[in-house]
Amino acid sequence: MDEEVVTNTSPVVEPAADPADPAIMIDAHGLSKYYGPFVAVRDASFSIPQGQVVAFLGPNGAGKSTLMRMLTGFLAPSAGRAAISGFDVRQQRIEASKRLGYLPENGPLYPDMTPLELLGFFGEARGIAPRALKDRIKAVVEICALELVLEKPIGKLSRGYKQRVGLAQALLHDPEVLIMDEPTAGLDPNQIKQFRENMQRLGRTKTLLISTHILQEVEAVADRVLLIHNGRLVFDGALADLEENGSLDEPFYRLTRELPEAPPASTGGRESAP
Ligand SMILES: Nc1ncnc2c1ncn2[C@@H]1O[C@H](COP(=O)(O)OP(=O)(O)O)[C@@H](O)[C@H]1O
Ligand SMILES: [Mg+2]
Repeated sequence: MDEEVVTNTSPVVEPAADPADPAIMIDAHGLSKYYGPFVAVRDASFSIPQGQVVAFLGPNGAGKSTLMRMLTGFLAPSAGRAAISGFDVRQQRIEASKRLGYLPENGPLYPDMTPLELLGFFGEARGIAPRALKDRIKAVVEICALELVLEKPIGKLSRGYKQRVGLAQALLHDPEVLIMDEPTAGLDPNQIKQFRENMQRLGRTKTLLISTHILQEVEAVADRVLLIHNGRLVFDGALADLEENGSLDEPFYRLTRELPEAPPASTGGRESAP
């Protein structure tokens, strides 16, 4: 098991004084994760300013979840550091987590609890006072349209409802920053549409980083794209700069395919996917 090797001595990032120059809400600085000789994420650096909606795109196994877990402080990086709203996620964990909502890949859902119990439980764990918690639960139940399932065990809910419970949990403390790991995986088209509408609404007031490998998802919600392949960031820029003829299909394929441009000199090359 790798241990964290970096100690952060840099000062907390101050909010920008100039309103035209928004504060950096998600900051990754040289993040790497090694599992023995295997490099899951290599030297990832980027800054996401307030209010941006960023799609984190890449094929399965590219390193999206690993990078998100380091960004949220759930996984110690092998090198580098991450900050949320200027607070180092490991050195200043509590301050950072107050400003961060995180929806992990499969949701932190306890199947025997009802959504109401789960939200109460997380709210207390976050130290939200009872009265404020009641108001916050009411708010997130409304945002996520959970009224009909509040008293049902989470284990009995559909995938779409489970994701909405996960989102409600992530939004409970009204964080400025939301990091969501493949929030629409396994949802049906209607549920995906609802989820996107929620993202578009949340994106008006919050900074969002959403991982996906579904290209249409990106086209629907994002201002900016981070593309990761084999643990490396291979594109960081505006959606329009990645698109070709209004589509992401071709650039995605080119930037993430396994074969190099020129055929390798050796004969033991890998086969390309069909
Ligand atoms: N605990 C671990 N030990 C070894 N390898 C891991 C571990 N976690 C993830 N990996 C590997 O790191 C790579 C990136 O995984 P992940 O971040 O889950 O990708 P993604 O979320 O983009 O599908 C994969 O090859 C995965 O097998
Ligand atoms: Mg993943």
